[in-house]
Amino acid sequence: MDGTDTLRHRVTLAGTDTSFEVEAGERLLAAARRAGTWLPFECGWGGCGTCKVTVLDGETELLFDAPSVDPRDERRRRVLVCQSTARGDLTIRTGQTSSEPWPERPLRDHRGRLVEHEDLGPDLARLRFRLEAEAVYRPGQHAILDLGDGLRRCYSLAGVPGTDEVSFIAKRYPGRPGSNRLFDVAVGQEVALELPYGDMWVREGEAPVVLVAGGTGISAVLAMAEDLARRRTSRAVHVFYGAGTRGELVCWEELEAAAADLPDGHLHGALLEPSAGWSGVVGFVTAALGARLPGLADAVFHVAGPPPMTDATVGLLRDHGVQLDRVHFDSFG
Ligand SMILES: Cc1cc2nc3c(=O)[nH]c(=O)nc-3n(C[C@H](O)[C@H](O)[C@H](O)COP(=O)(O)OP(=O)(O)OC[C@H]3O[C@@H](n4cnc5c(N)ncnc54)[C@H](O)[C@@H]3O)c2cc1C
Ligand code: FES
Repeated sequence: MDGTDTLRHRVTLAGTDTSFEVEAGERLLAAARRAGTWLPFECGWGGCGTCKVTVLDGETELLFDAPSVDPRDERRRRVLVCQSTARGDLTIRTGQTSSEPWPERPLRDHRGRLVEHEDLGPDLARLRFRLEAEAVYRPGQHAILDLGDGLRRCYSLAGVPGTDEVSFIAKRYPGRPGSNRLFDVAVGQEVALELPYGDMWVREGEAPVVLVAGGTGISAVLAMAEDLARRRTSRAVHVFYGAGTRGELVCWEELEAAAADLPDGHLHGALLEPSAGWSGVVGFVTAALGARLPGLADAVFHVAGPPPMTDATVGLLRDHGVQLDRVHFDSFG
């Protein structure tokens, strides 16, 4: 090997003729996709466990101690291909694979140039990127942004698809690396993005649709609400949105516009510290949702926001007897 060669390992899918090369440090999921082999995946970052495979031979390295890693996985030699690389040649056993992109997640790599950084509120901004090609995704899904130096972070796609532009609504957390790196991207600068990831979108059907956002969960919820309004769905759509203060309830007017365009749209807000004139619920978004739940027994639920909010919302739904196969949620952590 000379200085220009990259160390590569071969990954073989047990019981098949399929194998692919992975470069040193490269994620197995990305290497397989580069070679035209689509392994099962969903979230892309380690939250769901969908991409677990069994390692029959060889050694892997976990790049991020992801929440879906189970203590029993090590004994069973189960690894996440979205967050693992190879230390040598491997043989793995996986579920169904495809030589075509999965229709619900036709994942591809993009380059995005930041064209607008719009301040929305305290440490909250909408970032609009122009891509080199049309973004194909379902409203509710997310992208993974590579912010350099191994910093990869998920952001829900805030707009509707069908153009070469994507936008994200993000919060800057003081002293934390990913969000600060994102906020430091200058207009005109490029970042690498992969999209779409995730299992959150509104499935076809007749059932009432409930969308619940806490904080930056507004990005996914706004995308789904605007898409339903654009398609003028006849389904009842209830949008619940909670934040601390009115200043943090960003994009409220856009949600109001989407709800007004829906033939059967309803918007419910919740603030912890309301200012004068607030006519919504005072408290957490779960208080607003809980008050309406008895009338939403047959709805499908879509929940996005920080983990305490999604945990509380899913717990509330469970306590009210909602079957969890009618609940889709993205926990932002
Ligand atoms: C599905 C999903 C959608 C999200 N959508 C939004 C959004 O629309 N707007 C928004 O502001 N935030 C969103 N987030 C949160 C966002 O991804 C970041 O966690 C947030 O910006 C804080 O990052 P930080 O580095 O500043 O803080 P930190 O506290 O340092 O970030 C830690 C978090 O980063 C993630 N992480 C750490 N290492 C890795 C890695 N190697 N690969 C992938 N993830 C890693 C983990 O989730 C971890 O909890 C979303 C998260 C998820 C999972
Ligand atoms: S844990 Fe790998 S795709 Fe979700």
